Amino acid sequence: MRKIATINFKGGVGKTTATWALGQIASQETGIKTLMFDLDAQMSLTQAIALNEDGNPFKDFTDWYSRSVGKKKTIFNALDEYTKPATFNFGINHDFIYKISECFHFIPSAEDLYWTELEFFDREKVKHFIQRLMEKIQNSSNVPKYDYVFFDCPPSFSLLSYSVLSCCDLVLIPINPDFFAANGINLLLRSLKMRIEPSPIPRIGVFMNRAKKPGGTSRRRFSNETQRYLGDANEMLNRVRSDLGLQVNLFNTAIFDRVGMKRAIQEGMPGDIRNQFEELWGEIKKFVRET
Ligand SMILES: Nc1ncnc2c1ncn2[C@@H]1O[C@H](COP(=O)(O)OP(=O)(O)OP(=O)(O)O)[C@@H](O)[C@H]1O
Ligand SMILES: [Mg+2]
Repeated sequence: MRKIATINFKGGVGKTTATWALGQIASQETGIKTLMFDLDAQMSLTQAIALNEDGNPFKDFTDWYSRSVGKKKTIFNALDEYTKPATFNFGINHDFIYKISECFHFIPSAEDLYWTELEFFDREKVKHFIQRLMEKIQNSSNVPKYDYVFFDCPPSFSLLSYSVLSCCDLVLIPINPDFFAANGINLLLRSLKMRIEPSPIPRIGVFMNRAKKPGGTSRRRFSNETQRYLGDANEMLNRVRSDLGLQVNLFNTAIFDRVGMKRAIQEGMPGDIRNQFEELWGEIKKFVRET
């Protein structure tokens, strides 16, 4: 089981889109089972899954979700159980894990996750929550043995993202071609190292999302602006690599800016973007397998 967490402090860079796209692509490989988590209290991924192409509720999911909430089988209930003094007694089954398709499963977010940011839970204890939950999932005979687990994290270091980052195999960071690309990575990686140590720091992979094509008949790959921001990000990563001793890779594949991505989760990815995500997934797999 390889665990991949998508994070960036910056909002709107494509964390949710990438988590979903890569999760779906991975699950379509023969014999591969994929689990996807929405750990963001904003619930963007959960809401996207809950809507149909026409913007109406996707009844199969919304009915399942109401039952899951009614039976106290959400991720918040799991956390609540885990933080009780008694042994962690939370049954893993398909009231907790929704089947998007046979090989692509999903643990939605819950509104109550906002509570985790308050002094409601023991912070030290919550740090190990995801690790313990993943062990439970791995040992349960009610759900498949997942090959890949994807976590969609909020644009901040929430207690839960912490808990994921300290046990994942890869931290995946989407960046956009803007001023924050290089500076944001620097800030993120420095805080990651500071917060996670003494736990080992996972491998880190960065990719450019919303890359712009050059205008006119130019045969270059990117616009001047995208090229410049990529160069800045690369320079920053070199610096961070040597200053902090982290294993960071800037993936060669970039995902281009495409209007049709707005409703991709409901309507499906445009074919060209799917190809780009497939290529990125190839690079990611290779990188995590080197561990
Ligand atoms: N390659 C792309 N081309 C065009 N639009 C994109 C692309 N990637 C993401 N988007 C759009 O950008 C918006 C933000 O994307 P997304 O929700 O994935 O970002 P996020 O980092 O998860 O945001 P948040 O920080 O709020 O969780 C969405 O409307 C999404 O459809
Ligand atoms: Mg998001």
